[in-house]
Amino acid sequence: MEERNQTGVKEFIFNGLTSNERSKAALFTLFLMIYSLTLISNASIIMLVWSNTSLHKPMYIFLGNLSFSEIWFTTSTVPKMLSGLLSKINSISFEGCFLQFYFFFSCGATECLLLTVMGYDRYLAICHPLHYTFLMSNYKCCLFAASCWILAFLWASFPVILISTLPFCSPFKIDHFLCDPGPLLELTCEKGYSTEMLITLYISTVIFSTSSCTFISYAFIIQTILKIPSSSGRRKAFSTCASHLIVVSIFFGSVMYMYVRPPGSHPLNIDKVITMFYSVVTPLINPIIYSLRNKEVMEVIKKMMRL
Ligand SMILES: *[C@@H]1O[C@H](CO)[C@@H](O)[C@H](O)[C@H]1NC(C)=O
Repeated sequence: MEERNQTGVKEFIFNGLTSNERSKAALFTLFLMIYSLTLISNASIIMLVWSNTSLHKPMYIFLGNLSFSEIWFTTSTVPKMLSGLLSKINSISFEGCFLQFYFFFSCGATECLLLTVMGYDRYLAICHPLHYTFLMSNYKCCLFAASCWILAFLWASFPVILISTLPFCSPFKIDHFLCDPGPLLELTCEKGYSTEMLITLYISTVIFSTSSCTFISYAFIIQTILKIPSSSGRRKAFSTCASHLIVVSIFFGSVMYMYVRPPGSHPLNIDKVITMFYSVVTPLINPIIYSLRNKEVMEVIKKMMRL
């Protein structure tokens, strides 16, 4: 303990996205725009759901929760990344780094769980329409939403506690733009293969189980849709389902690429781009796809415009 304190880390330094000054300015502008749009669109969804009693249904309550988790998911990383693009040295305190790691992981896990529950909710609504109000009562919906948050925040504490108690050796340079287990484990003094393996297994279990449940729900949904007799009804149901599937696939696909893989070295530039996908891009496109492709939401928006 003594020794660890002497060599204790006070701060880490992010290598960040690029060292090219000109592309830094361009990236700053781009990410500031994406981030602002993400906040605006997600906050609008939350307000829309809250202020319209016609949207007080499980599907929209989950959507509101998804937007809420997305706001915190991006806010845990993007502002720090933006400030890093403006400064010469982008450092983060030891506590700050693990706090970011914790929030990034908890909100990310909440998102995985909510997407799963949303898929299940659509499965019940489309495949068991007659029993839907019984199977997904308001009470059950609240229970599901609350469980997603509680489970995710409990789940994320294990890797954070485990990695933060490992001894770190200099140089404390993180070759990434956020505090993620992979780059952090690279900085530990004894590179323990077993720790890396344990973390990988722990994370993959959740990603694997949530994504397979989600895809199974959509498989049942597609099967039911294919049985719809009228071709126009089939097309309409299919297009909504397809847009959900695109969102879910981008999110789970990129998260899987990052965390479900054997430990070892991976091309860092590809990792950064993939991380960008799920930390910056999906929080923006999720609310847009989920709401704009939805008739009820569009009607509420139109009604509000007319007022
Ligand atoms: C999230 O879900 C809970 C139900 O558990 C609901 O009361 C709350 O309004 C939802 N949050 C948002 C932002 O929609």
